[in-house]
Order: sequence, then C-alpha cells, then structure tokens
Amino acid sequence: MNKAKRSAVIAGNWKMNKTPSEAKALIEEMKPLVKDAGCDVVLCVPFIDVPAAVEAAKGSNIKIGAENVHFKASGAYTGEISAEMLTEAGVEYVVIGHSERRTYFGETDQTVNLRTLAALNAGLKAIVCVGETLEQRELGYTETLLKFQTKMALTNVTKEQLKNVIIAYEPVWAIGTGVTATADQADEGNGFVRAAVAEVYGEEAAQALTVQYGGSMNAGNAEELLAKENVDGGLIGGASLKAPDFAAIVAAASK
Ligand code: 13P
Repeated sequence: MNKAKRSAVIAGNWKMNKTPSEAKALIEEMKPLVKDAGCDVVLCVPFIDVPAAVEAAKGSNIKIGAENVHFKASGAYTGEISAEMLTEAGVEYVVIGHSERRTYFGETDQTVNLRTLAALNAGLKAIVCVGETLEQRELGYTETLLKFQTKMALTNVTKEQLKNVIIAYEPVWAIGTGVTATADQADEGNGFVRAAVAEVYGEEAAQALTVQYGGSMNAGNAEELLAKENVDGGLIGGASLKAPDFAAIVAAASK
C-alpha cells in the first residue's frame, strides 16, 4: 500500500452467500469491529440482500456494493439489474468482470467494458476484476493478459471517470482454492495492471489508482500482501463471510 498516493480499500465479495436476514446479522456483527478503520470498507452483496444491507450499514463506515450490473439502462432483459436501480437502492460500488462471471456466465472483455461504462455513467464506483488462469501463467502470458484485460475493461473510460475505478487483480488459480499468490506475485500482478493504466492515462493517473489483490486473502496473510507497494487493498471472498476474519483484514489495511 502507498496511502500517500491512493486510498486503501478492503471489499468483501459475498458471492452467492447469505440471505437478507443473515446479511443484516453479519453486518451488525461487523460494524463495531471495523468502525475505526483506516481504510475504506465495502461489502458487495447479492442483489436481493441490498436493501437489508444498506439499512444495516446506515450510519456506519461500511459502504454497500453489488456483485454485477447490466450494461443497458432499461428494457427487455429478463432477470437483469440496471445501474440506476442499484444507485437508487443505496449501492455505491459494483464488482464487474469477476472470473466466476467470466467462467460460468459468458462474461467477455467487451461486456466487462460495457458494464464498467454503465456503472461509471450512473455514478457507481466500479471494482473491475482481471486475472490469469494457471495455464496462462505457466505459458508466460500473465503480463500480456493482465494488460489486455485492463485496457479492454477501460475502453472509452475518461481520465475523470478513472477516479471511480478500482481494479482487482485476482489470479484465477488463487480464488477459493486456499492457494494465495505470494506477496511478490501479487505485487507484480498489480504492477502490471498499474503499468497498463499508465500506458493509456499517464503515470500520475496510474499512481492514483487503487489496485486490489484478491484470491484467498485472509486474516493470516493480509498484512504481508498489503505491505507491498502495489497492493492497495483486497477483494475478499471466503474471509468476508466471517466478521472477525474480515475485521482482521481491515485492521491490517489500517496500519
Ligand atoms: P476467496 O477470497 O474466497 O479466494 O475469493 C476471492 C474472490 O474471488 C473475491 O472476489
């Protein structure tokens, strides 16, 4: 982290976990544990949990995010949720292009870009996910892939809008596997993302960009990962479902 240059953001991604009543209970449990955080604290929750989560987080330092957004403003898109629906419900952040959406739901670099633009145009903060598979890493394509995914996701995003973008480097092989990237691998991957942003927007904008690491980050390894210059926070899956674990990561980012 380099808090002199950019904000540190710890975001939970609950994925398809927690009912509305469970969401309320977990947030109530988390509130006192993270109230003195020296970083931004975000919980990205299932759509159906949003009203309960926004209500539970009211008056606290926890911001609520969603886990996806559709790229059209409205229309015949059965089952989808627009950016305006999210903002009106009190959502401030949205995860876009998570590898699970790329793998299971046909998300492409193009749709990631369209969703990012829709989110930013509606005033949401976009947490855009990029990351290589193990096969791509072993073939030596990590840098190429991360730079490509980053640039594709940001196509037509203005320099001004970039201020509302966070990029999360999530190596696919580290997600939900218990295999964390080493701190050096995380720092390197995040550095590739920052370099791609510098190539398009210039060094100053790239230095101001928050780049998170995600993939089996937990209470035990967060401090070492966050100590790296390019790791400005985390996108946390499993460990964000337990209040003490999530709070410990927030505490590590608050130092
Ligand atoms: P885990 O922390 O469970 O590995 O998940 C990471 C992730 O995918 C966050 O978006």
